[in-house]
Amino acid sequence: MKRISQSVVLSGIIVVLAAALIGVLLYVRNQSTPERGIAPLVEIAAQEPDSSKWGVNFPNQYSTLLKTETNNTRTVYGGSEPYSKLEQDPRLVTLFAGYGFSKDYNEERGHLQSLNDVRGTARVNDTTPGTCYSCKSSDNPRLWNEMGMAAYDKTLFKDLGAQIENPIGCANCHDAETMALIVTNPALEEALQAQGKDWRTLTRQEMRTVVCANCHVEYYFAGEGKYLTFPWSGGTRIEDISEYYAYLQFKDWDHPQSGAPMIKMQHPEYEFFTADSTHFKAGVACADCHMPYTRDGAAKFSTHDVHSPLLRPEASCGTCHTDVGYVTTRVADIQRQVRDTMDATEDALVEAIAAIEAAAAVLDVDANLLAEARNLHRESQLRWDFIAAENSMGFHNPEEALRILANATDLARQAQLKAVQAAGTTDVIQASN
Ligand code: HEC
Ligand code: HEC
Ligand code: HEC
Ligand code: HEC
Repeated sequence: MKRISQSVVLSGIIVVLAAALIGVLLYVRNQSTPERGIAPLVEIAAQEPDSSKWGVNFPNQYSTLLKTETNNTRTVYGGSEPYSKLEQDPRLVTLFAGYGFSKDYNEERGHLQSLNDVRGTARVNDTTPGTCYSCKSSDNPRLWNEMGMAAYDKTLFKDLGAQIENPIGCANCHDAETMALIVTNPALEEALQAQGKDWRTLTRQEMRTVVCANCHVEYYFAGEGKYLTFPWSGGTRIEDISEYYAYLQFKDWDHPQSGAPMIKMQHPEYEFFTADSTHFKAGVACADCHMPYTRDGAAKFSTHDVHSPLLRPEASCGTCHTDVGYVTTRVADIQRQVRDTMDATEDALVEAIAAIEAAAAVLDVDANLLAEARNLHRESQLRWDFIAAENSMGFHNPEEALRILANATDLARQAQLKAVQAAGTTDVIQASN
């Protein structure tokens, strides 16, 4: 009896020990390999443009990046359905008259659509500079390294295309050897330098925002060589950017109705978010909301399926906010308020344009006052566009959005009044109504 029970106890101990050993082995395997432990590690060449090669080592990041190709869900003011902004808001056709954005202007979509969309837009023609590829392809870091950015920017879009095969990918954001987040766009490196900053000294949390500034920024093409430049040397607030362009007397185009020298804003998410927004001041990064940690079995990784956080608010906001329902309601309220305020600005701009056009047709118009009216149109519209072209409908920095739009509406009304003074008659307002 005694012997039997001893052997039962003994085999019981062996089973427990074996189970513990298996547990330890499984744990070690999950900890020591980046993913589920099935993929062999391959060496990735520096600036490798083909994301599928990186995907062998990092299948979860790769498979989630692939999802950005098929995302097509729309949200109230964003999402990934490429609907026409011009059809939705016909005032934009007047505001961008004489410029490509009055012909074709769609809601943006996922990272893997970048190449299709830049090649598909009616804004590109035979004289378009290659600079337009700067934010669209993982071939860029390699090309900038081989050619230098000045030569890249001088090449025409239609000629550069032969060397560009891949949409946005791993090489736009990561160093292949260390997988660290890096600045890959020379224009960002130079813009930070102009402010006395070196990205290599930034913290990991800061890089989770700065890496997006490789592309999600305001920029322009400087000089004959169309050199990609961020207008940041005086600062990144809208007032600093407007002063920068005024100092250079830079313009993107002349407005055919008002005659004003205009600036088109691109997608200044980085400048707008970092202008002391509540989240930025609290140390929150772009990746916290747009690339939240996700679990797949034992693996925990940053989702690379970058899209509107409103599509998965539990993952995007729930890590910090317990009441996800409340904060998403706040997003809806903020966006509606910003949209309403923006409507008032657009109405004021359309009326200013009409008044300036009518004033210019008056025989003895005061040329100086007319020039002032045109400058007020420019200053108003670039402020409005800073908020309109930014893709969060004000959410990234609600107070800043309302401040800038109030200023833009005021400047548009001043432009209209200046047109009246230039013409010497209020008829120019009647003409515009
Ligand atoms: C606190 C969370 C949060 C942070 C931080 C954040 N965003 Fe957003 N972002 C949002 C929300 C919410 C929206 C609105 C989405 C919508 O309207 O569908 C949005 C919208 C966007 C969009 C448009 C998405 C679409 O569906 O059209 C882009 C692009 C974007 N953000 C980029 C950035 C960048 C770049 C940064 C950092 C500079 C950043 N975001 C920081 C929450 C955040
Ligand atoms: C190499 C350039 C580049 C980098 C780096 C980059 N983006 Fe983008 N992003 C784009 C472009 C271009 C688009 C629009 C693609 C299109 O519409 O075809 C886009 C689209 C988006 C969208 C809209 C997606 C949708 O489905 O509507 C979000 C959100 C976004 N980016 C956030 C980020 C965040 C956050 C970062 C930093 C972690 C980042 N991006 C880094 C170029 C970039
Ligand atoms: C638009 C920029 C961007 C692109 C493109 C991108 N990543 Fe990332 N990646 C990030 C950010 C931001 C993080 C978070 C880094 C951190 O927290 O330090 C990250 C994190 C990672 C990590 C660390 C583990 C984790 O999930 O947090 C790995 C590995 C990784 N990415 C692999 C890839 C691979 C492979 C590709 C291409 C298939 C890729 N990334 C494409 C921005 C990007
Ligand atoms: C990494 C943490 C973090 C994430 C992720 C995050 N937030 Fe926040 N949020 C904060 C902090 C911190 C504050 C500031 C709290 C305070 O000052 O009381 C804040 C404040 C807010 C506020 C109040 C702002 C104000 O000025 O009234 C709203 C609304 C909000 N967050 C919405 C969101 C939404 C929506 C998301 C997801 C798209 C989100 N947050 C994701 C940390 C986060």
